[in-house]
Amino acid sequence: MNNTQKRSNFSGKLGFVLAAAGSAVGLGNMWRFPYLAAKHGGGIFLLVYLILAVTFGFGLMVTEIAIGRKTGLSAIGAYKKLNSKFSFLGYLSAIVPIIILPYYCVIGGWVMKYFGVYVSGAGHESAADGFFGGFVSKAGEPLLWFALFLGLTALVVLLGVDKGIEKVSKIMMPVLVLLSIGIAIFGMTRPGAMEGVKYYLLPDFQNFSVVTVLSAMGQLFYSMSLAMGIMITYGSYMKKDVNLESSVRHIEIFDTGIAFLAGLMIIPPLFSATASNPEQLDGLLKSGPSLMFVSLPKVFDGMPGITGDIVGALFFLLVIFAALTSSISLMEAIVSIIHDKFHIGRKTCCFITLGISIILGVPSSLGFGVLSFINPLGTAGGSILDFFDFISNNILMPIVALLTCILVGYVIKTKTISDEVEINGKFKGKKLFEVVVKYIAPVCIVAILVFSVLDVFFKLS
Ligand code: PFF
Repeated sequence: MNNTQKRSNFSGKLGFVLAAAGSAVGLGNMWRFPYLAAKHGGGIFLLVYLILAVTFGFGLMVTEIAIGRKTGLSAIGAYKKLNSKFSFLGYLSAIVPIIILPYYCVIGGWVMKYFGVYVSGAGHESAADGFFGGFVSKAGEPLLWFALFLGLTALVVLLGVDKGIEKVSKIMMPVLVLLSIGIAIFGMTRPGAMEGVKYYLLPDFQNFSVVTVLSAMGQLFYSMSLAMGIMITYGSYMKKDVNLESSVRHIEIFDTGIAFLAGLMIIPPLFSATASNPEQLDGLLKSGPSLMFVSLPKVFDGMPGITGDIVGALFFLLVIFAALTSSISLMEAIVSIIHDKFHIGRKTCCFITLGISIILGVPSSLGFGVLSFINPLGTAGGSILDFFDFISNNILMPIVALLTCILVGYVIKTKTISDEVEINGKFKGKKLFEVVVKYIAPVCIVAILVFSVLDVFFKLS
């Protein structure tokens, strides 16, 4: 979104909630949440995530949207206006989308590839073991799909046709939800899948670790587009007569609901697929970024006749739209930052963003093939893509969130935010918000950050 545009674009609450949900719901829900839940203990991850969503998520989203609406500015200007000593926080939060966008487009490219696979009727082959690995380890093809997804995102931003995309996705989103419910039910009724449903829904406290909390927290920020300045910008466009608190609740319910559904759709099929050789299960659960692309083709392959190809094609098309609304909002954010800071034309800003995304995206894509010997997080930590993901979600975002809490809790005081929320009605979650922002969030984030840094050196987990 452009700072120089007239503010207050969103006509009412529904318009605001839908726009913010368009940014929030994306690959984070469909692709990232399920693989983290599978990897970090299933039910216990889900439980920790839900607790964090109604506490941290709520507190931070209220804070960011209120900061935006109060100042009428996007992140860099907003933090500066609140307290000039905190200007750096605006810049720090601006780095996050710059790191995320390139690898987001790599994954977006994978989704496009799978759409292509199903449209060409090759769904059955994609269900075979090793199909995904074979695809991502190539050099040229994943790069081509990455370029296509990034190019499409840039084109929409350049032509300024985001509104058109938003309209389409308003229709696509409910279809995506309905289709996902259908796919989840189909997958859960396969032989052996119920074990997976139990793994996903029932918390096993033996699987709990600090890494579970760290990953759930990073995921929360990522999924709700928090701690990167985006919600501040959205807030700056929100009208004063829209109820801020209930808007936040709606976005949260929507975003979490879709992530929950994606987990239900992707995790149980892993159990039915490995029912006859259970020794493969653990490896599959821990497969990371590839999980969705390994699990879903098996579900579609189990559908009768060509139904699987049709459902697969439709599903991946819908995910492309959900991913596009998010990547567009990421790119818009970067373009606005460069535009506001350096006062250069939006077109040039778009090309600069495109250039940065290519420079960072190409190694992320090649990291599963020719560059797979580069493991910045150590051999267990994964690829170059995992590294960018880790830096943004597990390091930068918690730091931005921590400093925002300190700013609001101790410098400008929580009253500044609650006054903004109370412009239209009672702030029902005020006490919760205050306790989270002043005490719980700062203490937890510091503890988790210290642990994760120590973990890198001493492997505590
Ligand atoms: N929240 C998005 C997702 O879950 O896919 C990711 C994202 C989109 C983050 C847009 C930030 C953003 F500006």
